[in-house]
Amino acid sequence: MSISRRGFLGSAIAASFATTLNTNLYAQELPLPANPFGSGKRPIIICAHNGVNYLDDAFAFLKNGGDTLDAALRVVKGPEDDPNDDSVGLGGLPNEECVVELDACCMHGPTRRAGSVGGVRNIKNVSLVSKAVMEHTGHVMLVGEGAERFAVAVGFPRENLLTDRSRKIWLLWKEYNSTDDWWGPGLADPNWKPPALPSATPQSELWERRIQRLAEGAAQLGIEPEFRMAAIRRVLSPPTGTIHCSALNDKGEISGCTTTSGLAFKLPGRVGDSPIIGAGCYTDQDVGSAGATGAGEENIKVAGAHTIVENMRRGMSPLEAGMDALQRIVRNYNHDMTKLNFLDMTYYVLRKDGAYAGVSLWEGYSEKEKHSIAVHDGIRRMETTVALFKGPSHEFPPFPVKVPDELKKNSVYVK
Ligand code: GLY
Repeated sequence: MSISRRGFLGSAIAASFATTLNTNLYAQELPLPANPFGSGKRPIIICAHNGVNYLDDAFAFLKNGGDTLDAALRVVKGPEDDPNDDSVGLGGLPNEECVVELDACCMHGPTRRAGSVGGVRNIKNVSLVSKAVMEHTGHVMLVGEGAERFAVAVGFPRENLLTDRSRKIWLLWKEYNSTDDWWGPGLADPNWKPPALPSATPQSELWERRIQRLAEGAAQLGIEPEFRMAAIRRVLSPPTGTIHCSALNDKGEISGCTTTSGLAFKLPGRVGDSPIIGAGCYTDQDVGSAGATGAGEENIKVAGAHTIVENMRRGMSPLEAGMDALQRIVRNYNHDMTKLNFLDMTYYVLRKDGAYAGVSLWEGYSEKEKHSIAVHDGIRRMETTVALFKGPSHEFPPFPVKVPDELKKNSVYVK
């Protein structure tokens, strides 16, 4: 997740966010552990947490001789088809005009080819469209209306991607948070300063009032009680949910793909890292594959997936290679914690020999929600990522506030 910059700049509540977080200007890094991940087995598939339920089928396909890219696409198609996963495909959170725009890319190691689509409307399985670009055109990347028309031409159906739940979350954002958009200079602007505290009211009280107001709004909009806390969270801290998957077979062939609905409530036309070959995904048949979920703008600036693969080519382990890419994001902010606290990034790294790693800038979204990587190498499992910094990126709620009981009851769908 990434916090809304306008909210961060503009609101008293967000100001308190900044001042109560780690006030050190320089980040405290955790010591790098000995590699806690497996030492290398083939075949293997790794992916983001939301792909875990689709790993069994994809692994069986891979083990039976299926192509590595097709195996990875089987995994990411699951969340794309799932209306309850609001980070990709059908049900993805929309842009600021309430239109779902999707991004995806793929790389096929054995044939050293790539495909990509950005800002696609009305087509659910954009990961498969990126493969179609790779197979049926002489191009690598198509965007916007042209990508949609291409998808229809090669047989993908046009469909409404906006679910009622995602529309209501957008409405909650629009009605109750409408000044907190993505216009105006961002955290990377050199003149950006943390705001001064404008209010004498205790900050936890301001948060409680705001959450209460949003809870009332969510109820009025008809958001089901068990999803209200999740909706509020998305409004206050618009997510950048995504899924990446890399797959390696027993012959050492390797491929990867990444797909997303991108940053929630983004400006129309905003394209993140996911469809950028070398940022959201990069695969080199000689070395390995890497992909990303998290703050797309930051990952583009460090060409994260390509950086990781090149690091491995020069001899770094998957863990070291991923950590180095995270360090480059930190360097871009001169280690300034007042900004880094509002960014997060997870990298999924797979080397050609089967060694892998999951690394993240922070340990999770909160103490209870640690970042993880899903793995299948014969045994399907979730493993906690190795974090560069201790603690959550921005705990939600950021204070020990009293969350209304009706929001806590049966609350699901919190990520
Ligand atoms: N990482 C997904 C995005 O920023 O769009």
